[in-house]
Amino acid sequence: MITESHVDPHVFVVFGGTGDLMRRKLLPSIFRLGEQDRMGPKYKVLAIAREKDISNEQYRERARTALEEFVPESKDAKQWCDSCLHYQTIGDASPADYKRIKEYIEQLESEYELPGNRSFYLALPPGVFVSTIEGLGESGLNRSDGWTRLVIEKPFGRDLESAIELNRIVHKHFDESQVYRIDHYLGKETVQNMMVFRFANPIFESVWNRDRVKDVQITVAESVGVGTRAGYYDQAGALRDMIQNHLTQLLTLTAMESPVSLKADSVRSEKVKVLQAIAPIREEDVVFGQYSAGHVRDETVKSYLHEDGVVPGSNTETFVALKLHIENWRWQGVPFYVRTGKRMKQRLTQITVNFKRPPVTLFEPFDSAKVSPNAIVLTLQPDEGFDLRFEVKSPNETALIQSKKLSFQYAEEFGRLPDGYETLLHDILTNDQTLFVRSDEVEHSWELYEPLLELDVNVYPYRAGGWGPSASDQLLERGDDAWTLS
Ligand code: BG6
Repeated sequence: MITESHVDPHVFVVFGGTGDLMRRKLLPSIFRLGEQDRMGPKYKVLAIAREKDISNEQYRERARTALEEFVPESKDAKQWCDSCLHYQTIGDASPADYKRIKEYIEQLESEYELPGNRSFYLALPPGVFVSTIEGLGESGLNRSDGWTRLVIEKPFGRDLESAIELNRIVHKHFDESQVYRIDHYLGKETVQNMMVFRFANPIFESVWNRDRVKDVQITVAESVGVGTRAGYYDQAGALRDMIQNHLTQLLTLTAMESPVSLKADSVRSEKVKVLQAIAPIREEDVVFGQYSAGHVRDETVKSYLHEDGVVPGSNTETFVALKLHIENWRWQGVPFYVRTGKRMKQRLTQITVNFKRPPVTLFEPFDSAKVSPNAIVLTLQPDEGFDLRFEVKSPNETALIQSKKLSFQYAEEFGRLPDGYETLLHDILTNDQTLFVRSDEVEHSWELYEPLLELDVNVYPYRAGGWGPSASDQLLERGDDAWTLS
């Protein structure tokens, strides 16, 4: 994750090789890693998909077009595709099909003198995770003369029971040390920075607790709607799609104790402890919403119910706000508010830590409740950076105190940040599981949210282009808090 290490010669196998994830994210990331010499001295990429009549040449041509679109600055895409990419169909996914895939991999390994190191990336719809993992196990593709790694995209299960069952199938064929459960938020540079920010800066860490913090807020707002994904999304909803995974990762990284080292299990165990300390979420602390028509920036957008593929009258939530309590020595009594929604006013992922106000104030306005709290605001996207908000004396006689901020912007200091997938793919190849979700972590997370899936709560409509339903503001007002954004 934060350290650089060696990549062995290997074959990188992607199931779902003609899919959107491969085209938009995996191919560009593998290509970029290759350009930076971070894919190791020798490697081949084998794309696997159902389509039968695609030759290697045709696949390479498709891949080149994708790279032109997603890595427009690339010059050597054609040469890279010709030398690295291969395609095989999985046909009907029968044992004979897996046997053919195995033979193809072995042929690549012998032709290019690769020692049998293999990653299997399941860039697939969740409905075929189980059959693919069984297919790998039963064909013997779960072992080789080198190392074998299994990479599974989210969503990992759709409730506690299905997550436990998926873990059972995974562990039937693979050891946990071979398994990489992806949550692409963990690959984002700014998300990884959370640990550096907290544990390399004692001045912040010393105030990061219930003695100083008033409340913590995590917002993941998207301006996009459900797009072409209604088939999946209408069955999932924001709780499964975003809260159970991405927002929970941000929450645990914000709240966890310092790990004893940066070793994967050390970090992941601290995140699990946070999940174990969260009190059951009360029904009155949950707000669900669904977007209606409105305007996002200057565009008029339709309601969720009018999106293509949404079941008529669907009650699926596209917005969730929650209040959580972490019952441990560091956080007892500090509310954590999390919210996410589609078709919000703007795309913004922010973590705000609001500090307690001064107990009394000497300055106008004499009421300390009117002094803005100090705050640390970490903006994870799109303008990655960090703000520290504080009060200053203003020379203006009518407003003696004003809020100002000190700001740091990643782009100004570092230019382009790597795509999260580049980081995650490189970690898979270097056997670093720190940024991947462990089996117990995923189950604890489902344990927390599963009761909410069964609640019969109101799904409030909210206007596209705003900040969600007013019930979400009221959730904070009840605790004398308010959503703050920088
Ligand atoms: C995905 C969700 O995991 O994350 C999508 O399925 C969501 O619904 C996306 O839009 C958000 O990711 P990012 O990186 O654009 O914030």
